[in-house]
Amino acid sequence: MTNQHEDGTLEVIDRRTGRHYELSIHEGAVRAADLRQIKVSEEDFGLLSYDPAYLNTASCRSTITYIDGDKGILRYRGYPIEELAERASFLDVAYLLLNGELPDKAQAEDWTHQVTTHTFVHENVKRFIGGFHHDAHPMGILVSTVAALSTFYPDAKSISDAGHRRDQVVRLIAKMPTLAAFAYRHATGMPYAYPDDDLSYTGNFLNMMWKTTELKYRPDPVLEHALDVLFLLHADHEQNCSTSAMRSVGSAHADPYSATAAAAAALYGPLHGGANEQVLRMLEEIRSVDNVPGYVERVKRGELRLMGFGHRVYKNFDPRARIIKKVAEEVFEVTGRNPLLDIALELEKVALGDEYFITHKLYPNVDFYSGIIYQAMGFPVEMFPVLFAIGRTPGWLAQWEEMLEDPEQKIARPRQLYVGQELRHLPTTA
Ligand code: ACO
Repeated sequence: MTNQHEDGTLEVIDRRTGRHYELSIHEGAVRAADLRQIKVSEEDFGLLSYDPAYLNTASCRSTITYIDGDKGILRYRGYPIEELAERASFLDVAYLLLNGELPDKAQAEDWTHQVTTHTFVHENVKRFIGGFHHDAHPMGILVSTVAALSTFYPDAKSISDAGHRRDQVVRLIAKMPTLAAFAYRHATGMPYAYPDDDLSYTGNFLNMMWKTTELKYRPDPVLEHALDVLFLLHADHEQNCSTSAMRSVGSAHADPYSATAAAAAALYGPLHGGANEQVLRMLEEIRSVDNVPGYVERVKRGELRLMGFGHRVYKNFDPRARIIKKVAEEVFEVTGRNPLLDIALELEKVALGDEYFITHKLYPNVDFYSGIIYQAMGFPVEMFPVLFAIGRTPGWLAQWEEMLEDPEQKIARPRQLYVGQELRHLPTTA
């Protein structure tokens, strides 16, 4: 998987006691639980590792996605993201993430058939979407309706049954676009457009978004392909915030709809999948290329963050951002150039030549250009995190299954360092 399989040992001297310990190193890591043997006395609980926000803690062993943040490498099951974006479809990649291998022709046909024939949702779903306020954020609607799906599929609770698990995986991947499009239609007051199983996964989503009076919606092939690539680029990103939420909630053996709702809720945050929405709002606020240097100065003064820049893992470049820039050109051929692109390009140019951004290793991430493409395609900004959620669903599910099948995993339950009050007592009343 990586080139880090170098077994060895770490010698530790505890200066408090003078004792020596030898900790095993596997795959470039020591086990945090091995620290527990390091004690000052028999009653001592043992040494903990303190790692707020998991900056340096591996929470699992995984075979799904490999990232080298310094080199800007992203691979799904060993395949470079660049090759997949060029030669595979989103559904191929979903299959790859879930099964470990790309599908052959027959498997791809069967998989596509399974997904495209599970796109409908129960009519009651429309009723509770109807209960949301007219200007409800579609991501809020998505999070709630995904969770609500668990009430329609009681078999989803059988998380130890591989067959039942796979049923929910298919349903979730198939129904996310339907819920997403229905959330949008609710906000615009348009009647819901039902799925069209003849179309591709992405083509059908565009159909449910944009179909009006035509008998059959025919997606523009360039936009259909571009959106498929965008979904594919978002399909997994190892142990990010939303995936960790998926694994964490799933580790309590919650059903996958509830766990996916938790993952989507994490994705909603502006520091994660909500960032693409914030990028657009930021570009609109900057308004013109002339205002870029002033805006960058404010960022450097710490007044605000440059949205769509920076990443916990990528410290050189985000390979997805490079692919997205190419996709943007194809999309603009069809839709016309998004005027915000000029501001984005100027912002990138100014930031990449600036000492602050160079020393802080801040580069455009996947969200920087994706929003500009989505907007050119006609999606309102509120839909951006929703689009991200559709793309990320196969990754969440692959990680969830891997977690359930991993004999080392238990319910996720971090420790804390208690730094509050010592024991004290209420005053006795007179
Ligand atoms: N603009 C300006 N400065 C930044 C930015 C930014 N976007 N991101 C980080 N910094 C600075 C911080 O101020 C800090 O500076 P300091 O050391 O001088 O105090 C330093 O860089 C490190 O920042 P952290 O917040 O510690 O970095 P972390 O790895 O925790 O955060 C994150 C990563 C959340 C992505 C951050 O870069 C950020 O907020 N970016 C903007 C939001 C965004 O685009 N999120 C999408 C991420 S990609 C995704 O989720 C799909």
